[in-house]
Formats: sequence, C-alpha cells, structure tokens
Amino acid sequence: MRDAPSVLFICLGNICRSPLAEAALRAEAAKAGAAFHVDSAGTGDWHVDCPPDPRAQAVALMHGIDTSGYRGRQVTVDDFTRFTHIFALDAANLRDLRRIRPANATATLGLLMDVVPGREGSDVADPYYGDDAGFAVTWDDVSQAAREIVARLA
Ligand code: 4NP
Repeated sequence: MRDAPSVLFICLGNICRSPLAEAALRAEAAKAGAAFHVDSAGTGDWHVDCPPDPRAQAVALMHGIDTSGYRGRQVTVDDFTRFTHIFALDAANLRDLRRIRPANATATLGLLMDVVPGREGSDVADPYYGDDAGFAVTWDDVSQAAREIVARLA
C-alpha cells in the first residue's frame, strides 16, 4: 500500500481558513475511511501558538468538529519535503509560498480551489475582517475542496 498522502493547507494567519480546511479534510477522510496526514500553517507569524479564531471554531463545531486544540504555526522550508501536497488558500499565499519554496522541494504546490470543478483559479476569501456569514462561506469552500482531495488522493 502506498503511504498516506500528507496534506498541508496554508493561509495568511493560520487561524481562519487553513484550520477550517484542515478540519474539513480530517472529517471527509474519516467519513471515507481514508488515511491522510493533515496539517495547516500560515505564511505570517502573528498567530503562532494561537487557537483558531472563535468564529472559525464555531463554524467547525456546527459541523461536529472540535478545533479548539489546533494551534497556529508558520510554514517552514522543511514543510516542502515533509508533505506530499501543499495547498494555498489564495493567490497571495501561493505567491509567498513560491518565493520560499526550496530547490529540494518534493511537495506539489497549488491553489486549493483548483481542485474544485468550476472554481479553478479562485481564492478562498479571507473572512477575518467580516462576519459569521463569511465563515460559513469559508466552510462551504473548504468542504467542497476536501471532498475533491479525498476523491483524488485517497
Ligand atoms: P486567515 O485569516 O489567513 O484565514 O487565518 C487571517 C487571520 C489573521 C489576519 C489576517 C487574516 N491578521 O491580519 O491578523
């Protein structure tokens, strides 16, 4: 059997979008009985060691997933060899990741919504400065992507 895919989601702060993508993939993988290693990180370092934003925790909990134990961390160059797949939540994150990608990188790097038919090239919008409705949109986006990732990689 092949090694389980290892998937890293990257946003800016690692307290809103990427922890929700992590939660959604954990949930979809469990539902499918598929083994995945899953993690998330931020390009920025403002929220290192912080739990997800309370609004992100709330939307995950509404879908039965407890993210209160997640802690923010910043992406490192080692992530490009530790993971098989790295997904940026938006185009700015993808640009930043391409900038720091080391020459020995083995992970495939791409934009998350590129895995969702009809949503190619689109960002998962940053809900940080908005309201709860924005977090519901984030959840929908990352759940769709998580289902596609399980279908493609499991
Ligand atoms: P995230 O959202 O990248 O989805 O985690 C943000 C969280 C924090 C900040 C920006 C975006 N911030 O500027 O602190």
